[in-house]
Amino acid sequence: MSASDASRAAAVDPETLARLAGGLAHELKNPLSTIGLHLSLLEEDWRNEDGIKAQRTRRTIDTVKKEVQHLSGILEDFLRFARTDNLDRQVHSLNQILEDVARFVTPECRHLGIEVATILDVNLPSLAVDAGRLRQVLLNLVLNARQALEVQHQQGGQGGHINLISRQAGDKAVIEVMDDGPGMKAATLERCFEVYHSTKAGGSGLGLAIVKRIMEAHGGSVALESAPERGTRVSLFFPLEDSALESS
Ligand SMILES: Nc1ncnc2c1ncn2[C@@H]1O[C@H](COP(=O)(O)OP(=O)(O)O)[C@@H](O)[C@H]1O
Ligand SMILES: [Mg+2]
Repeated sequence: MSASDASRAAAVDPETLARLAGGLAHELKNPLSTIGLHLSLLEEDWRNEDGIKAQRTRRTIDTVKKEVQHLSGILEDFLRFARTDNLDRQVHSLNQILEDVARFVTPECRHLGIEVATILDVNLPSLAVDAGRLRQVLLNLVLNARQALEVQHQQGGQGGHINLISRQAGDKAVIEVMDDGPGMKAATLERCFEVYHSTKAGGSGLGLAIVKRIMEAHGGSVALESAPERGTRVSLFFPLEDSALESS
């Protein structure tokens, strides 16, 4: 790209750019899944063949398949990032959503020696949230915690704990996702909400950026505390409506 091309690109307003990028990601999704499908057919064709050539072909198919999966993961993440408009907000119990997420992630975590617990404020008022998006926020955070604990586990440490907490703080409902994993270095902490910033091989670097966008779309906010050897706590703040405050 020449300097003048670059400056023209920079002149496109961010909304248009986001829409274009979203459209592009969407257009790439279908051909990519067709490629994946045909790779599976090829794989099937070569499954029972013998000989060096067949072995090499199977390895090649496998490599291409993994790359296709990696690409569709990136596209999925990107599309989730781009789609934070049109929230479908209904009144939900945050505690119920936390329980659902905990139940969903517990088996796989237990398998890795990680304990998942919920510590809930039973008096927390219900809130108008997009439950699907909020589940996605929580899954992103639990996944990060799990991946951090997995690293610790691989290095011979304990499996560790993930706590999902709900509480009320003044005029806000707060959800916390805490882990006692290795925490973040100062340099990572500074950049962790940046789009595409990841310290993981194959990480999309979109997880926390998505969390922030979805929380802001709800009129809420997110705070993250982390230090090496001290674990990580992510706090999600939701404004409570006046009516919820009166009835609580
Ligand atoms: N619970 C956590 N413990 C330690 N580091 C974390 C945790 N959550 C996030 N991080 C750091 O923040 C970075 C960005 O996270 P994220 O936006 O979810 O992207 P990704 O998970 O794809 O790397 C991670 O690469 C990791 O270095
Ligand atoms: Mg992540």
